Amino acid sequence: MAPRRARAKVRATRRAAPLRAPDRAPAAAALARKIEDRSARLAVVGLGYVGLPLAVEFAQAGFHVAGIDVDLDRVRRLQAGESYIRDVPTGDVRALVRSGHLRATSDFAELKRVDAVNVCVPTPLSKQRDPDMSFVLAAAGQVARHLRRGMLVILESTTYPGTTEELILPLLEKTGLKVGRDFFLAFSPERVDPGNPQYSTRNIPKVVGGVTPACTAVAVQLYRQRLEHVVPVSRPEVAEMVKLLENTFRSVNIGLVNEIALMCKRLGIDVWEVIEAAATKPFGFMPFYPGPGLGGHCIPIDPFYLSWKARASGFEARFIELAGNINGQMPAHVVDLVAESLNGRGRAVRGSRVLVLGVAYKADVDDIRESPSLDIMQTLVDRGARVEYSDPFVPTLEFAGRKLRSLPLTAANLRRFECVVIATAHRSFPYAAVLSHAQGIVDTRNALKGSRSSKIVRL
Ligand SMILES: NC(=O)c1ccc[n+]([C@@H]2O[C@H](COP(=O)([O-])OP(=O)(O)OC[C@H]3O[C@@H](n4cnc5c(N)ncnc54)[C@H](O)[C@@H]3O)[C@@H](O)[C@H]2O)c1
Repeated sequence: MAPRRARAKVRATRRAAPLRAPDRAPAAAALARKIEDRSARLAVVGLGYVGLPLAVEFAQAGFHVAGIDVDLDRVRRLQAGESYIRDVPTGDVRALVRSGHLRATSDFAELKRVDAVNVCVPTPLSKQRDPDMSFVLAAAGQVARHLRRGMLVILESTTYPGTTEELILPLLEKTGLKVGRDFFLAFSPERVDPGNPQYSTRNIPKVVGGVTPACTAVAVQLYRQRLEHVVPVSRPEVAEMVKLLENTFRSVNIGLVNEIALMCKRLGIDVWEVIEAAATKPFGFMPFYPGPGLGGHCIPIDPFYLSWKARASGFEARFIELAGNINGQMPAHVVDLVAESLNGRGRAVRGSRVLVLGVAYKADVDDIRESPSLDIMQTLVDRGARVEYSDPFVPTLEFAGRKLRSLPLTAANLRRFECVVIATAHRSFPYAAVLSHAQGIVDTRNALKGSRSSKIVRL
């Protein structure tokens, strides 16, 4: 027979359901009432790409929200009514700060006064490529110091399965308070996709798994006040694994299509045309696209949280490692394409001027974390090229000990470079001008789709 957990029902629902029989903890019922009438005071710890949009959603739902961050500059800017996250309009922040619904602080004593806290701090990899849990532990330590009866704690940072119950729960229960009775603990992965005009925090379904049914119920109830779909699951480990499955799925499929791209190059086949035609199949195929490598705070990192955890149980996550390997080689492949482009015109990498278009890790965002453009630029510099960049979202860049400035894409500027690399396909780039004026182009994103110019070397 299938284990009880595997049979647990997962429901997606819009409407609030009353707390169920096992959830009759009086503290849960009291918190539920405060959530319903908006008297519950909320805190969001970590006000970045994930935490700030969430804090704004809750504040717009009518809650009083304290945003807590250790970055004093971010706190100061928010208190001045200014947003530093592109997807969060400054006008929204200003209105909420003025009305008193949103307040930013670096003082964790604020937690004494709150009924629910969402933790959205970074989860990077260490130098050894193991999970770096220091930010989560620091934030959870602060929550534990101020934990009190009736409080709901939700971890949203992406992490390995088991974190909530193995790492956070013991810290909180050290206070003598009991989970499910005195306080409530859940994990809910954030799925926000910066720069996506269609899906935002509010309309992306929210998966929630509590340590006990009462924990799940109050966490679900909180999110339902503002988010359109909430998907309860049986336990935190399921919710933690959901996020890692999603991001591993992307990493592995990107790895596969990158390998197909390398294969097509060898076979003299246009991979972009292949994908476009394959994507006409109405079932059983989902297009992924090759590129210069993985970037951002999620896809290059999260799968290694899973492989680390699997390894600790004696399980080797082969797909993750293989995809990481292939994806990790793509920046070097792009540099080889630059060499091919220059070589075709009798030039060497050493001494050539190369302009990289786009240093943000994906189109139309300003996030350069883990961006493959930086690896490409560094390898080109190591091989003796003179490198500059252009990115309307990243006006200045600290690179190789120098402060570079984004170059305007004028005809004169484009002509000055022996090779232009399209690394990130921002919509605002003047592609027609690039095509007319660049001496040679490496297009890693098929941004010049349709052009047959012999200037272009495609991935
Ligand atoms: N960026 C994304 O698109 C995205 C999407 C889904 C999930 N996530 C996950 O969400 C988490 C947060 O990511 P992010 O992109 O928002 O990170 P971020 O770097 O943009 O923001 C994190 C914020 O936390 C603050 N911080 C760090 N330590 C702190 C502490 N001890 N107390 C209070 N504040 C602290 C930082 O100053 C920063 O402002 C990560 O686990 C990430 O993997 C990110």
